[in-house]
Amino acid sequence: MKVLVNNTIESRENVAIDIEDRGYQFGDGVYEVVRVYEGEVYELDGHVERFFRSAQEIDITLSYTVNELKENIKALIAENNVVDGGIYFQVTRGVSPRKHSYDRTLASHLIAYPLYFTRPKEKQLSGVTAITVDDLRWLRCDIKSLNLLYNVMMKQKAQDNKAFEGIFVRDDVITEGTSTNVFIVKDGVYKTHPASNMILNGITRQRILSLLSENNFTVEEVKFTKAELLAADEVFITSTTSEVMPIIEIDNQIIGQGQVGDKTKQIYNLLINYIG
Ligand code: PDD
Repeated sequence: MKVLVNNTIESRENVAIDIEDRGYQFGDGVYEVVRVYEGEVYELDGHVERFFRSAQEIDITLSYTVNELKENIKALIAENNVVDGGIYFQVTRGVSPRKHSYDRTLASHLIAYPLYFTRPKEKQLSGVTAITVDDLRWLRCDIKSLNLLYNVMMKQKAQDNKAFEGIFVRDDVITEGTSTNVFIVKDGVYKTHPASNMILNGITRQRILSLLSENNFTVEEVKFTKAELLAADEVFITSTTSEVMPIIEIDNQIIGQGQVGDKTKQIYNLLINYIG
């Protein structure tokens, strides 16, 4: 496997992470997952721009431009012959003797490598289940931080309950999933939590909002409660890897008719057509 390290592509065997890399010790860094369909990278601009924003928000300086990173990612896809899958990329603040505060002259450390997976079609057709969990994360969920410990714990709790996703509830409001954004449909209106520090503004979420508006569906970026979630006609979650994933049961309660709803199918089809 070929991997990108800062500005150069190398063989994976030749790359090592320092024991004092701040990403390893503190989770001091940010990341992205970008999708590749049939060898073509999808929504690269949105992911790379969000990556630069996340890095800036935590005061990490990157040693390449947006365009350089985009070109390097495309080269990495070609080098590895990624047909279906994606690229994971992350940057850490760099290597220094362990202490909490940091030195702004540190050289940040980027790595990127290919992921191989396919569209989760069966689950998209059948729908999946979810559980609700308390949102005990920090208040900068808009930053795509490497610190995913609570997300990891709650995804595992979902899996232990044979559920696909854990849906976060903060002060009775549904924020997002452990690695997805959440939409409900009620009386024909699509709703999702507004973009704020309480959620990651998903690239898929943003694409879905545009597709819904362009196709004259009613969509609102508004807060909704756990009671509204459970009483929704339809629920679906979105992400780079899940695309549109219907949720047919939450906390052992059937949602709507307990099957993939028409409004979910409509936005799923719009997204799949858009992807091409
Ligand atoms: N997860 N919310 C959270 C907390 C996420 O981690 C993600 C993405 C999303 C959806 O964002 P997007 O549509 O840009 O993928 C929402 C990625 C895929 C991951 O951690 O693997």
